[in-house]
Formats: sequence, structure tokens, C-alpha cells
Amino acid sequence: MKMTDPVKSFVKNNSACASVFQELNIDFCCGGDVSLQNACEEKGLKTDVVYQRIMALKSSPSDEKDISGLTPGELTVHIQSTHHVYLKEALPRLTALMEKVCQAHSPRHPELKPLQTVFENLRADLEPHLLKEERVLFPLIVKLERDFSGLQMQAVAGPIRVMRHEHDEAGLLLKQMRTLANDYVAPEDGCQSFQLLYEELRKLEEDTHLHIHKENNLLFPAMERNEEVPVGF
Ligand SMILES: [Fe+2]
Ligand SMILES: [Fe+2]
Repeated sequence: MKMTDPVKSFVKNNSACASVFQELNIDFCCGGDVSLQNACEEKGLKTDVVYQRIMALKSSPSDEKDISGLTPGELTVHIQSTHHVYLKEALPRLTALMEKVCQAHSPRHPELKPLQTVFENLRADLEPHLLKEERVLFPLIVKLERDFSGLQMQAVAGPIRVMRHEHDEAGLLLKQMRTLANDYVAPEDGCQSFQLLYEELRKLEEDTHLHIHKENNLLFPAMERNEEVPVGF
């Protein structure tokens, strides 16, 4: 790997890089086509220091399943059983926690109301997005894996385009949330619930970045490569 390689390829090569990029606020999912060098320069980070740090990482952390050998169909099962399950549990729980913190703190912290609005917009985008993947795109990918046909492969191109667009939208909302929430550093007068909310929102961002990375940079390219196979192959 070279410093001029795109950020997403480092995570593709070793998913342990995701947590370092997350910590440094380097986008590796929707904006992952930027080279490591350019991403570091943009954030005012020393490229060689970041490069050495990520190259020293051991491969996948133990709690992150090794997904490198999975077929596209198996990858959809992995994504659904980890990231989709997480979001379905976390989003309603965070709505309640956000409401509680807003009620207690919004008079002194005017940033909370806009944060709540952006979070609710994100939830309103993500929930139907998960269903579209689970009901339309993922079953199609599993079906195509069993019954390969160049013609049918083209059927995934439209849904993938829509999903990529929705990922970009979610990525923008996550960025807005991070800005409104002061990089998820809770204020000194914030109670435990306030701190928990910011911790949980940070986790939501981290999980969603990894989730989108797996779809945008692993799953979809695997299908798009197949799509190029001529009809009748
Ligand atoms: Fe997904
Ligand atoms: Fe998605």
C-alpha cells in the first residue's frame, strides 16, 4: 500500500484501519476515493505518521469478523445480521435518549434541537433504506449468485445507484451531526445522559461508516464487476 492509494483501499485491505480513520475523522466510505496523502493534508495531519500507524496495525481486530473471503450473497447476510440489526435496535433507543437530553438541556445548549432534527432526518432516511436493501437489493444479489445471468446482473445496477446516493445523503447528515455535537465532546455541565448520548452517537457514526464502506467498496463493486460479464456468458 502507498500513501497515494485511496483511503478506502486501506480499509478494504485491513478493516482494522477503519477505527483509526474514524478517530482521525477521515472519511473512508462515501469520500473514500481520496488518496491517504490528500485526506491527511486536508485534515492538517502528517501523512507519514498516519501511514506508519495504519501499516503497523495487525489485520482485523478480533471482534470484527474476517469478511475478506465472503461471496456477495454471504456479505449481504453478514451486513444484515450485524449493521442492520444494530441500527434497528439503536435508532429507536437513541430517539428516546435524545428527547430526554433535549428536554433537560436544550435551554442551555441550543445546539441540541438542531442536532435532534438532523438525527431524526437520518433515522427517517435509514429505516426505509434498510428495508429497500433487505427486500429488494439483497435478495436479488443472493438470487443472482445462485442463478448467474449477465442480463439479470444488469437488474442490480439501478438499485445500487439509488443505494449509493442514499449513502451519500446519510454521510452528509452524519457530518452535520458531528459538527453540531462538537465532535461528540460533551460539555462540562452535561449530565450522564448527555455524555451517554454523545458516546452512542459517535458509535452510530462509526458503525454506519463501516456499514456503508462494506456496501459501497466491497459488495457493490463485486456486483458491478459481474455486471460487465457479457450476456450469455
Ligand atoms: Fe445496509
Ligand atoms: Fe446501505
